[in-house]
Amino acid sequence: MSDQSLENYRTLHGLPELAGVADLAGAAGPGLEVQECVDRLKCFHYALHRIWQTLLTRIACEPIYELKMGYSYHAYLAAEHITLLRDRVAELRHPPLGLDKVPHENLEGFFDEIRNAPDRERMLAGLYRVALPALRESMRAYREETNPLADAPGLRVLRVVLPEVEAMITWGEKACAALENSGSGEGEDHTEWLEELGGWLAASGGLAGTEKEDSPPSPRYSTDEFRYDSKPQRDERFPDPYNMGVHAEEFLYDESFESRDKIFMMFYKRIREIDVPEMMASILYEMVTESGDEEAGGRPWGFYRDMTRQLWDEARHAMMGEVGFARAGIDWPSKVMINFTWSKGLNEQLTPRERHAVLWFIEQGLMSKTGKRYEWEVGADSGDEFAQLVQDFDWADEVLHARIGRDWYVKNFETVAAAADYGSACWDKVVSDWEQWKKEGLTEHRNWWPDLYREVCRHRGEEPDPRVLAYDRSYAETRADLQRIAASG
Ligand SMILES: [Fe+2]
Ligand SMILES: [Fe+2]
Repeated sequence: MSDQSLENYRTLHGLPELAGVADLAGAAGPGLEVQECVDRLKCFHYALHRIWQTLLTRIACEPIYELKMGYSYHAYLAAEHITLLRDRVAELRHPPLGLDKVPHENLEGFFDEIRNAPDRERMLAGLYRVALPALRESMRAYREETNPLADAPGLRVLRVVLPEVEAMITWGEKACAALENSGSGEGEDHTEWLEELGGWLAASGGLAGTEKEDSPPSPRYSTDEFRYDSKPQRDERFPDPYNMGVHAEEFLYDESFESRDKIFMMFYKRIREIDVPEMMASILYEMVTESGDEEAGGRPWGFYRDMTRQLWDEARHAMMGEVGFARAGIDWPSKVMINFTWSKGLNEQLTPRERHAVLWFIEQGLMSKTGKRYEWEVGADSGDEFAQLVQDFDWADEVLHARIGRDWYVKNFETVAAAADYGSACWDKVVSDWEQWKKEGLTEHRNWWPDLYREVCRHRGEEPDPRVLAYDRSYAETRADLQRIAASG
């Protein structure tokens, strides 16, 4: 069709053409063939899968809280993108879709180098300054080259994915710059290695394999086998991570205390949820690497997608607690001792399957009278709109988690009771040695509640109530109490 014919073409009444998805000239032009689209989408899929996996490896062992939360969010975004790309490939081709196949060995080498990066600065730079920008450029090229009418569903996927990839890059760039300015790293120059990463990409014909291939550089970090470290680490704002000296639930369920004071125990319970992403990341990473693809006994992608969503929800719950303290003017690092004993115990002592069982076992208890409804009621009764709002969403999220648990855990058992028995038995296996930690000088299990409460009162301009100030119940007393520590959802 000539340009002249297009110019002469008229819709009825001058109505917008082609349902608004494209203009005539764009739609009339050439575009990528279906196979080319599929090939590129599979490269995007592979890249996001590796990014997702790399982020999972850092959620537990990265000490800095803000990075832990950022990685949790981006792992979730990547899992959503992976899902969209899988679905689009499945629309274009019959199975087997070959989504588990590595598109190019040098692209694998590229991501192996980033995954094996020896420190946070290099991992961040590799992921956010090289891998994600390369993905963005390949997606932009796809967007320019594909036919906007014929491949409208493919473009719609990119309209969702691309802005989120761009937002990830923006966050990563800010994170790299903040760390550089803080002088927290070694201050080493990584330019040479970052150039090598570019070399790996060039050796695979670009991220989407659309260019001429160079020869690959020599591996720098990926010669050694990758060792996943699931031991949770925390930064300096968590000075007493073995502290189990304040029994939050006992205070919360005590009818003689006031809701307006209880909300601070709830903010503590929320921020303490940092341990759930630390634990869930280990399930997701280890289940992938242990069992491989679905045919080899792995789990279907839906499992990873749902569990990554839950991981992100738990990270959000932690941040809701952080905001609760921040808006009350409370410096939480000096007032609240947030422990990591739960994620540490599970990651070190249980298999991924057993950890999942414990997670479900704890969460199914949250729907009871003393669970999420009660916490929401406390929020509503406190007169604090934020506490009410946070608990409202926390409860709603928990309903989703219960569904995820039914779909991916309970279904593997004959009965719900059998699923609960197994979860309980796994939980019983975890040893949390209160006295031992004390003996080793890891903690004094100090009761930090009076300090926090005094600070709350100072901001309110009130005298502390001696009875509230005297609250002194720890998790030490019984094994049952120790187990309840994680019942924070
Ligand atoms: Fe939660
Ligand atoms: Fe949850």
